[in-house]
Amino acid sequence: MDKTDYRLIVEQAKAFIETDPYYVAALSNISALLAESLSDLNWAGFYLMREGRLVVGPFQGKTACIHIEVGKGVCGTAVMKEEVIRVKDVHEFPGHIACDSASNSEIVLPIRNKGRIVGVLDIDSVKIDRFSDADEEGLKMLTDIIGNEVVFEC
Ligand code: SME
Repeated sequence: MDKTDYRLIVEQAKAFIETDPYYVAALSNISALLAESLSDLNWAGFYLMREGRLVVGPFQGKTACIHIEVGKGVCGTAVMKEEVIRVKDVHEFPGHIACDSASNSEIVLPIRNKGRIVGVLDIDSVKIDRFSDADEEGLKMLTDIIGNEVVFEC
């Protein structure tokens, strides 16, 4: 499999944000960019914090669950622990929330804005153990830029 060019993804994401930093515009295009740039994905998008829980945001993929409580599923656990969670096999993650039965592995990265978590980037793959250290590193660069430069309303 070709290595994903995260530098290019980050440059493109910066260009979207510079054109319009409003979160709906920026995150919609970034989710589309991820869906077309990474292989073997079935879902790529955002859950955003509102009134103490995660609410689905811009994404590419099948319809998804709307609310996720902090501490629940992979997304809510990433918020609670304030850390990136990489799941090699979602069927072995206790409490995994299955929105699409095609998902086999997942990575969730918290997004920090002015020191607080405003949401997560959630990416699902049909492939077991799809996400490598290099993917995590590249996606971390992306979520840092999103957290610092996107204008959130929440
Ligand atoms: N699997 C996630 C739920 C969101 S869907 O993957 C889009 C979780 O366990 O939090």
